[in-house]
Amino acid sequence: MTKDEKKPFEQTLGEWKRFIYNPGSGEILGRTAESWGLILLFYLAFYGFLAALFSFTMWVMLQTLNDETPKYRDQISSPGLTIVPKPHGALEFSLNVSKPSSYENHITSITNFLRAYESQRQEFHIHCRNGTIFEQDDVSPKKACRFPLETLETCSGLKDESYGYYEGNPCIFVKMNRIIGLRPQGEPRIACAVKEGKDVKLVTFPQNGNLDLMYYPYYGKKLHVGYLQPLVAVQVMFLTHKQEVTIECKVEGSPNLRNEDDRDKFLGRVAFKISLTQ
Ligand SMILES: *[C@@H]1O[C@H](CO)[C@@H](O)[C@H](O)[C@H]1NC(C)=O
Ligand SMILES: *[C@@H]1O[C@H](CO)[C@@H](O)[C@H](O)[C@H]1NC(C)=O
Repeated sequence: MTKDEKKPFEQTLGEWKRFIYNPGSGEILGRTAESWGLILLFYLAFYGFLAALFSFTMWVMLQTLNDETPKYRDQISSPGLTIVPKPHGALEFSLNVSKPSSYENHITSITNFLRAYESQRQEFHIHCRNGTIFEQDDVSPKKACRFPLETLETCSGLKDESYGYYEGNPCIFVKMNRIIGLRPQGEPRIACAVKEGKDVKLVTFPQNGNLDLMYYPYYGKKLHVGYLQPLVAVQVMFLTHKQEVTIECKVEGSPNLRNEDDRDKFLGRVAFKISLTQ
């Protein structure tokens, strides 16, 4: 644009004013009030329709879901194992027998965890027949089986409130993640072994790490109120203090519970390390 072609400022301003409101044709921003009204109406109807369509499809989708079981699952997956207490970060405990502050928080987290298993909380739990799957598909409400703390013997906290930590023989609790509808086959058990280190002995409670079939299937938090999952405790007896051991626990004895997966190192197994000093 050259200087000569430049319009005088007043003219430009006038054009803008006329664009914003044109008194001759009554147009506002290039449209008459009627035209604006129609456009607004059109968009209102258009977006209203989209919103209604969205809500309707969402509603139809929600009708197909229920609160009790997940709708989409790739078969019934195989569960992972976890431990209590759970040290921060990597699964590494470092315990100093003569320094209670190195394990007091572990004792507290075990106590909190086992609170659900206290006998006064199992008043409404039933004695189930051991060794068999407890089917209650057609029963409502679902009943929950007892899991007596005594099963865990010296790790139960009933006699030794420190779960062995004061003597340097710590108890670690292993549990299998809950999976709704899972029916283990065979005789599932949790087997722990020392992977690295020596001069330790492992004692498992209940003996041989049984996960009794009567605790399966699990029907979900909402239907299966009070459900207690079976626990296995492994007590690590250190024959000499000042040691480092790695322990691995795996679920065994059940064809449909896998314990090996290259992509998921917690599938059916868990490994942890304990360094004990004095
Ligand atoms: C363990 O704790 C005691 C008491 O606090 C301390 O004297 C000792 O040095 C600690 N041992 C190690 C290996 O840190
Ligand atoms: C069921 O419990 C009894 C008594 O505690 C025991 O002897 C038996 O081995 C258990 N059966 C199974 C399959 O766990």
